[in-house]
Amino acid sequence: MEQDILPWTEKYRPKKLDEVMGQEEAIKSLKAFVSKKNMPNMLFSGPPGVGKTTSALALAHELFGADISGNFLELNASDDRGIDIVRGRIKDFARSVSLGEAPFKLIFLDEGDALTADAQQALRRTMEANSSVTRFIISANYSSRIIEPIQSRCAVFRFMPLNAKEMHKALEHVARCEKLKVDEKAYEAVFYVSEGDMRRALNTIQGCAMHSEHITEELVHKTSSRAMPKEVKDMVGMAIAGKFQEARENLDKLIITYGLSGEDIMYQVYREIPKLDVPEKQRMKLIEILGEYNFRLVQGASERIQLEAMLAQFSNAK
Ligand SMILES: Nc1ncnc2c1ncn2[C@@H]1O[C@H](COP(=O)(O)OP(=O)(O)OP(=O)(O)O)[C@@H](O)[C@H]1O
Ligand SMILES: [Mg+2]
Repeated sequence: MEQDILPWTEKYRPKKLDEVMGQEEAIKSLKAFVSKKNMPNMLFSGPPGVGKTTSALALAHELFGADISGNFLELNASDDRGIDIVRGRIKDFARSVSLGEAPFKLIFLDEGDALTADAQQALRRTMEANSSVTRFIISANYSSRIIEPIQSRCAVFRFMPLNAKEMHKALEHVARCEKLKVDEKAYEAVFYVSEGDMRRALNTIQGCAMHSEHITEELVHKTSSRAMPKEVKDMVGMAIAGKFQEARENLDKLIITYGLSGEDIMYQVYREIPKLDVPEKQRMKLIEILGEYNFRLVQGASERIQLEAMLAQFSNAK
């Protein structure tokens, strides 16, 4: 019963390293560390929802088994970004004696890029002072926000967005467990809207499942407030062909049916341009125009007017 109220991101979070999709290189190394019962300090970097936290938790479970609670500390740096977290909890934990057979204790610092530079400097010393008894895993979306001395103390693993095949496989498992019928096109749509972010993919599917057990491409796009890529592509095609009025009607539909914001629409146009069957030079020109109008939009100009002006300009791109 309790399982039923869990968000699917938790319900289907892989428990073992072997169940993590993709990330082959990182997983291979992590498995080797578990079997050797030794590991370096590590930095997991990569975009959201691709398995950094999941892998760190799975690693800790495989490494410590039943002894996990005394040997593993999980901290979220974005809750407490300052130096106190390093001076306080991390230091205390690092100093305490490890339990059971464990060769060292593991501190997982999630979202480490949220730590201030001062806190990172303090962390650098803590890492060094306790290196015989503790290991750190720091997870970050932007490795560039982690100060150089910490990076150089860590083995860096880059986590990638999942590819279509990996995501498909993970979602198929969910569909089976939840007794959903998911169209092949719907899987493609989930991949399109999530861009390889598995958390977003699971949330999208769970959102769709609240509406229907049969998940279609349309439902996926509606639930995630995205237009069908084909509709965006058609709109751009019309604009290029100089059919301004039709393109404009299409734009209306996107705004009204999907409730898309100007920026959402521009981003989707941006994703369709590479797929257009037009000469390379024309595609470059289209991107240039898009860049200009996107800038105006971000500056606060009227969304509607800028979108229409952009479509009008598209017919001049040759
Ligand atoms: N590689 C993967 N294989 C299978 N499921 C995954 C994978 N990556 C993410 N997931 C699913 O997405 C959810 C979120 O993943 P996770 O917490 O590991 O993301 P993260 O990389 O730590 O992201 P963030 O940078 O936002 O912290 C997990 O609960 C899991 O269900
Ligand atoms: Mg995480």
